[in-house]
Amino acid sequence: MKFFLDTGNIDEIREGIGMGMVDGVTTNPSLIAREKKDFESVVKEVLALVDGPVSLEVVSEDVDGMVEEGRKLAARADNVVVKVPMTMEGLKATKILADEGIAVNQTLIFSPLQALLAAKAGAAYVSPFIGRLDDVSHDGMELVEQILTIIENYAYECEVIVASVRHPLHVLDAAMLGADVITMPFKVLQQMARHPLTDVGVQRFLDDWKKVPKK
Ligand code: E4P
Repeated sequence: MKFFLDTGNIDEIREGIGMGMVDGVTTNPSLIAREKKDFESVVKEVLALVDGPVSLEVVSEDVDGMVEEGRKLAARADNVVVKVPMTMEGLKATKILADEGIAVNQTLIFSPLQALLAAKAGAAYVSPFIGRLDDVSHDGMELVEQILTIIENYAYECEVIVASVRHPLHVLDAAMLGADVITMPFKVLQQMARHPLTDVGVQRFLDDWKKVPKK
C-alpha cells in the first residue's frame, strides 16, 4: 500500500520521509492556503523533497484553462501529477492531458460512476473523498469498494487514492480492501504509530532496567 501525505507542510513531509512513510504527496488549494506562503514557494519546497508523485491542483474552471495550467504544472518535474476536479470540464481536460502522457489525479470523486468516467478518460488516479461522505452519513468506504471492483473489472490503468482521511480506522479499512494508495494528514500517520500499551511497555522496561545491577 502506498502512503501519500495530504499536506503542503514541509516540516510534516520531512518528518514523514524520515519515518520512511512517504511514497508521495497530495495538495489542494485549501492545504496550500493553510501554509500562508505563495503557491510557488510551497511547490518548490515540496518538489525538492519528494521523489514520488506530487499532486498539484488546477484552479481554472474551463477545459482550456485547466489544460494550460496542467501542462505548466507537469512541465515542472517528472513526478508532478495534475489534480483535476471531477466536473464535465475537468473530464475533458483529463482526456486531453492524459493523451499527452500527463498523469492526472481526478479529484472530488463522490460516486462510483464519476470514478468510471475518470478512469475511462485516462486518469492515472481517482480520489474518492471518503471523510466528506462519512460527514454526511454516506459510507465512504463502500464507495472505495465499488471503485476498486469497477477498475478491476475492466483492468483500467488507474489507481485509487483513498482521500479525505480523518482517522486511522480509515487506513485500516482501506488496507483491508486493498486500495492502491491512501493519502492522509500527517496527524493520522502519527496516530497509527502510537498505542498506549506500547508506551506503558516502554516505561516498564526502562523502570526495570534501572533495577539491573550495574558493574
Ligand atoms: C485529497 O487529495 C484531498 O487533498 C484531501 O484528502 C481532502 O480532504 P479533506 O476532506 O479533509 O479536505
